[in-house]
Amino acid sequence: MTSQGWKDTRKQVLAVLSLLLLFFSFPLYSGQAQAASVTITNGPVWNDTTGGTIQAHGGSVIKVGSTYYWFGEDKLHNAASFRNVVCYSSTDLKNWKWVSYPLKPSSNTELANSKVERPKVIYNESTSKYVMWMHYENASDYSLGRVAVATSDTVSGSYTYQGSFRPLGYESRDMTIFKDDDGSAYLISASNSGGGANDSLASFKLTDDYLGVSTFLGWVAPSGHREAPEVAKQGGKYFLITSGASGWYPNQAKYMTASSMSGPWSALQNLGNSSAFFSQSNYILPVQGTSATTYIYMGNRWNSSLLGDSRYIWLPLTLSGSAGTASLEWQSSWGIDAATGVVTLPALTNLSAGKSATASSSASGYEASRANDGNYQTEWKASAVTWPSWWQVDLGATKTVKEVDISWFLYNGSEAYHQYTIQYSTNGTTWTTIDRTSNTTYGFTTDTVNFSARYVRINLVNAVLWNNPNNWYTPTLYEVKLLGN
Ligand code: DGJ
Repeated sequence: MTSQGWKDTRKQVLAVLSLLLLFFSFPLYSGQAQAASVTITNGPVWNDTTGGTIQAHGGSVIKVGSTYYWFGEDKLHNAASFRNVVCYSSTDLKNWKWVSYPLKPSSNTELANSKVERPKVIYNESTSKYVMWMHYENASDYSLGRVAVATSDTVSGSYTYQGSFRPLGYESRDMTIFKDDDGSAYLISASNSGGGANDSLASFKLTDDYLGVSTFLGWVAPSGHREAPEVAKQGGKYFLITSGASGWYPNQAKYMTASSMSGPWSALQNLGNSSAFFSQSNYILPVQGTSATTYIYMGNRWNSSLLGDSRYIWLPLTLSGSAGTASLEWQSSWGIDAATGVVTLPALTNLSAGKSATASSSASGYEASRANDGNYQTEWKASAVTWPSWWQVDLGATKTVKEVDISWFLYNGSEAYHQYTIQYSTNGTTWTTIDRTSNTTYGFTTDTVNFSARYVRINLVNAVLWNNPNNWYTPTLYEVKLLGN
C-alpha cells in the first residue's frame, strides 16, 4: 500500500471509531441523565451532607446556574425566635450541603431579639443584587406584622439588613415573593382588612429594585383567613396556594388561579387532603429540566413542641394552566431528576379504591364507601360518638399491601391525632393486629406495611384533641388508601 493509501485507511478507521464512539456515548449519556434521579422520602428527618439535621424551615429555593440554594429558618434551638437564616446548596435536590448563615441575629440590632420567618430570595438583574424578603416580628409575639428586606451581591454571602416595615402601612405576616418572567416581582402576605390579624391576603407589586412595594394590588380571599401563601405560574396562569390560619397545626390547603398577578383571583379550591398530608406550604419550586418542568410543593410538617424536629414534605404538584387546576397526591417516596425534570412515581396502586366497604355503624348519607371512593372531600361517619368504631374493606381477593394511608377527620381549630389499629385477615375471621395507638401524627398517617390480606379493618380507638380534653368527634374517615401491587 502506498503511503497515501495508509493515510486514507487510517482516516477511514478513525471515522468508523468516531462513529462508534458517538453511537455508544449516546446511550451512556442517557444513562447518566437517568442516574441523576434521586429519591425524596417524606416523613423522616432530612440530614445535610455532613449529617446534621437540615434547618431550613419555612424557606424557599433559588437556582443559580445549575445549583439550587435552599434558604430557611434555623430552628435548632426549638424556639420560634430568630436564630439564623440558613443557606444550603445542592445540584440534585437531595444532597444538601450547608453553605452559610446569610443573616444572623448579629447582622443588625433589630434582629437581635426578633422573629424572622419564611425567607424568600430573588435576584434583581438591574441592580445585580440578591434580595431577601422575610416576615419580621419581635421575639415575644406576632404583633408587629412586618416584612424585612436584606440584600447581598452573592447568593449565599452575608446579607445586609435594610430594615423592617409594614408594606404601604398594611399588616404583613406569612408572606411570599414571586418573580415573574418579565422581571416584575410581587409580595403576597397574610394581612388584616379590618377583621383581625390574617383575615385576608394582601397583594403588592414590588418596586423595580425589589427593595420595597410600589402598589397595593388588592385583597385576595377577603375574610378567608388564609396564610402560608406560595405562587407558581404554569401555562400563563398564576396559582396561589395557601393554608388556613391555625397556628402550627395542619389543615386543608387551597388554591386560587388568576390570569394576572393583579387578579382577579378565582374562588378557593381544595388541594390534597384535609391536612395537606400534615403539612403547611412554604414554597413551590419549579424544576425546569431538559425534558419536563416539574413543580415541587414544599411543605413544613411543624412540630410545635420541638420546632427543630419539624419535617419537610416535598411532593410533585400537578398544575394545568389551561384547565386552571392543581392537584397534590401523597407519595411516601418518589424520584426527581434535577437535570431532566422527570418525576418517577412508585409502582403502587390503590387496592382499596371502590372495593366493598362496611363499618360498625354509618350515619345516614355517610356510608362506608365514602372512605374509599378516591375523594378526599367525602367521608364515612359513624352514626354516634362511639369509640372505638371500625371501618373495613374487602379487597375481593388476597392482595399484598405495602402502605396504609389514612386521611383523618380534622375540624379547624380542633385538630386531633387518632389512636388506631390496623387489622388484616385472609378469611374475615382470623385477624392480625398492627398497633398504632401510640400515633401522635395529625390529620394524615402513612404506615409502611407488608402483609397479604383480603380484609383490612381500621379500628378508630380514640381521638386526642389538642385544645379539648374531651373527645367530642364522631368517628370519621375521609379516605383510606391501601397501596400495593
Ligand atoms: C403559621 C405560619 O405559617 C408559621 O410560619 C408560623 O408563623 C406559625 N403560624 C406560628 O404559629
